[in-house]
Amino acid sequence: MAVLVPLGYLWATSLVPGTYNAADMGYADYGGGPAGGHEHMHHEMNIADLTGPKTGTPDVSVTLVARKEKKGLAGYTLNGSSPGPLIRAESGDLVQVTLINESVPDGATLHWHGIDVPNAEDGVAGVTQDAVPVGGQHVYRFRAKDAGTYWYHSHQVSSDEVKGGLFGPIVIAPKTPGEVLATIHTYDGKRTINGLTGSQRQQLTAGTAARVRVINTDNAILRIGLTGTPYKVVAVDGREVNKPTPTTKAYALAAGGRVDLEAIVPPTGLRFVAGTAALTLGIGPVDPPTAELPAETVDLLTYGTPKAIGFDPAKADRRFEYRIGRRIGFLDGVPGLWWTINGHKFPDVPMFMVAEGDIVRMTISNTSGQAHPMHLHGHHAVVLSRNGVASTGSPWWTDTVEVGNNETYEIAFVADNPGLWMDHCHNLPHASEGLMTHLMYAGYVTPFRIGGTTHNTPE
Ligand code: C2O
Ligand code: CU
Repeated sequence: MAVLVPLGYLWATSLVPGTYNAADMGYADYGGGPAGGHEHMHHEMNIADLTGPKTGTPDVSVTLVARKEKKGLAGYTLNGSSPGPLIRAESGDLVQVTLINESVPDGATLHWHGIDVPNAEDGVAGVTQDAVPVGGQHVYRFRAKDAGTYWYHSHQVSSDEVKGGLFGPIVIAPKTPGEVLATIHTYDGKRTINGLTGSQRQQLTAGTAARVRVINTDNAILRIGLTGTPYKVVAVDGREVNKPTPTTKAYALAAGGRVDLEAIVPPTGLRFVAGTAALTLGIGPVDPPTAELPAETVDLLTYGTPKAIGFDPAKADRRFEYRIGRRIGFLDGVPGLWWTINGHKFPDVPMFMVAEGDIVRMTISNTSGQAHPMHLHGHHAVVLSRNGVASTGSPWWTDTVEVGNNETYEIAFVADNPGLWMDHCHNLPHASEGLMTHLMYAGYVTPFRIGGTTHNTPE
């Protein structure tokens, strides 16, 4: 009994309820700010009302049909292919996307990774909508704002559905003659660029400014880069880098992250390399020689030139800690080695509470033994420091930051997009193992629930 009682207790207290409201999860962490926030508010506001424009003719209108079907390496498709079609919009466009679930048995949603859409358009099952069942549909509408490279993916059973193929690229920017898209994904153990293994070609004339938009849709960081000529890192996670300088190093792209690389095409061509010389995209008038990536990587902490960020992190209204650890125990009755946030196991994790307009600082530290690409929905944060060393380069705006083992990142952002937002590891199996929490704006409630009859399972 001496052994059984504590074990039984730990097991029972680890059970995740069959259905629950994400806003009631864990415990509120106010980050040193007031608990209220909305002094003059008389009733709670519903996040389901935080939609994009309800009226107006869309400038970009797309229908995406999701299917469970074997197509090449993929197990799921959007409009018959994986990656799904490129959605292109320009700043200011009203974008409308209709998702039709034809045959994805677990249901599906579309999340606009890196696009800071209104909360009700964020596409997270059980948090901002119900998963779209087979035979159902859902319409997303939002105004495209910040030009850049993004991607969309299902946020229902995402650890399985994204891996299997329910994702695609979305670019907010006019198409230029030098644009090259490189969506990287591993299907069934085979890494691909735009769905294809091996080496590919894109014909561009010498002298063209090639802009390679790279998207890492996998669960792990990947070293990428251009060989054959120096290049500039011109944008990170859909935000321009200030005064980038030419480099010949590689670039480490976090899972879920994007980067835009720019170079003038030399007469001998250049080559985009994804990981190794076995997976490349030759760009130029001729096929350039193959080459491996150099060992050194660009460090965004010192890359580019500083510039005003538009707010003062020294005047933070809230300061949060997001401490990632690992501990032996039970999660939902299953024994194992589980992730912890601030020493707590899912679902007993902190929910970071903010009020609209707050300046927020967050220190993300990691002693869990593995790296974690941390993704905050609905906001871009600026990196203030890494391991105590302040950023001295261009403002490093990010929505997905790789926090290595024994690393600490301090980030800051303005709470300017009300709602209930996920804040999780984008190694999606880690998220499904409990490395997941929320940023919650005071005064809001969600009508959606995880589990239950809707079978909402965001991770
Ligand atoms: Cu790319 Cu929570 O998502
Ligand atoms: Cu992780």
